[in-house]
Amino acid sequence: IGKKIIHHPTVDSTQAIGHQAAREGAPHGTIIVADEQTGGRGRMNRSWHSAKGQGMWLSLILRPKIPPTHASQLTLLAATVLADVLDRYDTIQPFIKWPNDILINEKKTAGILTEMQAEQDQIQYILIGIGLNVNQARDDLHQDIQSKATSLRIETGNELSIKNIIQELLIAFEASFDNYIAQGFLPIKKKWESYGFKMGEDIIIKTFKDRWRAPFLGISDDGALCTESMEGKPISLYSAEIEWFD
Ligand code: BTN
Repeated sequence: IGKKIIHHPTVDSTQAIGHQAAREGAPHGTIIVADEQTGGRGRMNRSWHSAKGQGMWLSLILRPKIPPTHASQLTLLAATVLADVLDRYDTIQPFIKWPNDILINEKKTAGILTEMQAEQDQIQYILIGIGLNVNQARDDLHQDIQSKATSLRIETGNELSIKNIIQELLIAFEASFDNYIAQGFLPIKKKWESYGFKMGEDIIIKTFKDRWRAPFLGISDDGALCTESMEGKPISLYSAEIEWFD
């Protein structure tokens, strides 16, 4: 992983470049990194602010020999790898907010966007986009996210080398990916749950039609949120948003 790194000063989105590179046959482990994205994309059609030199904006092409139904496990893997790398800083205690945001002091520092191309039940490639806020001062964060977002600089008081973080991430990713292929998802699931934000506590769950309070019990093998329905029956949710009590 990371043997081939494509670096761009400015792109629309590293995801767009990644899809193109993957279609043209880029090998497993190819990385696309940009200093700046003018059209950074988040989940649910949201945009992702990606100013020059302020964060790690990269996409990773994977070609794993796993069924398409297991693709979400790789997103969870990516979140645990990122949490592990951030956990090495003494002053940072990262949490993973389901499904795959990284929180520090209850504010979002990183997000992951996974897109997959599959044909006849076979994965052509998975593109994992990771955005990590690194060197923004509070005033650099965009108005609409200021109250909910943070950066490593805000949390540690130091400017950090994005290049070093990328290096550490790639090394950790490779080790974790190899381990996943050898040992399966269980170790990752356990690690994910050890970082899980509000694990074992009550949270507020919001789906497209309802909003209720229920315990966050863990994640399933396909990355679903394990919780209880409004009637108190065990359920797994694939698409929902969570909120919490302070
Ligand atoms: C989210 O939390 O909604 C996911 C954000 C993902 C942002 C990253 S930055 C690198 C890659 N390129 C993009 O356009 N998006 C992802």
